[in-house]
Amino acid sequence: MARDGAVYACQSCGSVQTKWAGQCAGCGAWNSLVEEIQSRPPGALAPAKSSARGRGLAFEGLEQHTPAPPRIATGVEEFDRVCGGGVVPGSAILLGGDPGVGKSTLLLQVAASAAMRGAACAYISGEEAIEQVRSRAHRMGLAAAPVKLAAETALREILEGLKKERFDLVIIDSIQTMWSDAHEAGPGSVTQVRAAAGELVRLAKKRGVAVILVGHVTKDGAIAGPRVVEHMVDAVLSFEGERGYPFRILRGAKNRFGATDEIGVFEMGDVGLTEVRNPSALFLNTAGERAAGAAVFAGIEGSRPVLVEVQALVAPSAYGTPRRAVVGWDSGRLAMVLAVLEARCGLGFGDRDVYLNVAGGLRISEPAADLAAAAALASSALDRALPQDCVVFGEISLSGDVRPVSRMESRLKEAAKLGFRRAFAPKDAEGGAGLAVTGAARLADAIQRIGDGDW
Ligand code: TYD
Ligand code: MG
Repeated sequence: MARDGAVYACQSCGSVQTKWAGQCAGCGAWNSLVEEIQSRPPGALAPAKSSARGRGLAFEGLEQHTPAPPRIATGVEEFDRVCGGGVVPGSAILLGGDPGVGKSTLLLQVAASAAMRGAACAYISGEEAIEQVRSRAHRMGLAAAPVKLAAETALREILEGLKKERFDLVIIDSIQTMWSDAHEAGPGSVTQVRAAAGELVRLAKKRGVAVILVGHVTKDGAIAGPRVVEHMVDAVLSFEGERGYPFRILRGAKNRFGATDEIGVFEMGDVGLTEVRNPSALFLNTAGERAAGAAVFAGIEGSRPVLVEVQALVAPSAYGTPRRAVVGWDSGRLAMVLAVLEARCGLGFGDRDVYLNVAGGLRISEPAADLAAAAALASSALDRALPQDCVVFGEISLSGDVRPVSRMESRLKEAAKLGFRRAFAPKDAEGGAGLAVTGAARLADAIQRIGDGDW
């Protein structure tokens, strides 16, 4: 029997159940239900005091024009761009990322840069002591920035402190370490994270402060704690990077004030993160000849063209069930491209392992990468290298057609700028940017050309 007021909250999705179970009925996660004391049943509103009369809803028209919200440009341009041109006062941003990816480093730089430009910034760390944050700032050459530091986890103290002074930007590192004495649940639990986020978002709205919350990420990439935090904030950004690569990519997953397809690229070095203003050549493997199985994809990330090497390895399978492994691309999309190669081009992969990797830790989500992946796969399967100076892009349909994609001219222009002379692309791209474009209308023709080395 559950104690009075005790409920079980899933630490993964935030759904609340009245009985403990091994598996969450909401999201299917195992062992994620934790007992929490609720002061009142979930979803129930506190009963209105008899003296408190409702004010009623005041309606307004659509016609009144609200000018675009002013933004605080932090001066870290890659960050500002992903936010949609700076942070909006009164907005709340959640920044998620694996431990050690560089969230604290990025936000310290953002705070320092904004402070140097005159914004009143506070950095509240619940994870590190002030001395640690300070020594990192010194190492990164940010010691002169007038950022107000605090090491605190008690929400009450933080809210009090933030009410005493006027701030433009407040960083809370991390939301999982914050706890409110109004709730009995332990720090890091769903109830606490939700309560702390709720209070901080309210503060942001009420006082017009931009609040950035750091959120830890679980193994499968979700921001730990309740999904509801993602719904509470105005923007959700994720900071990503592959182990072993210095590159870090900031990506928008949700943004009420801007596009979500922008990325910001950084390089982690000895003195913190450096912005990579022109990342187009970053993900290219320029050393040596291009091997069989590699194709350079001319992609678009947000507003910028980015060239990236797609690498495939097709090898005889040692086991009954062939392996399919993909890094940096969608495995469903890989399955589709393999099926089209098999059905429309006669290339069989049934008894072969297939590995596909996007170089440099970038993650591609554009359908325009289909043809580059197919070219890399065919190049590996047929053991024919693609020309060194060739870029590839195009969407593949289930019927085996190569379809035009967006912004073909910018893709070709960027490739030309980086010294590429040829492109393997949809027919409509022919003649663009002075490149020799081998236009393919059908995937089968394209694969034929790769096999024949016919360029
Ligand atoms: P950190 O910002 O603490 O990560 P997070 O807050 O996401 O957990 O970054 C930690 C990593 O970054 C750590 O492995 C060391 C590395 N790092 C550098 O390589 N150079 C630097 O100048 C700094 C500050 C950190
Ligand atoms: Mg940190």
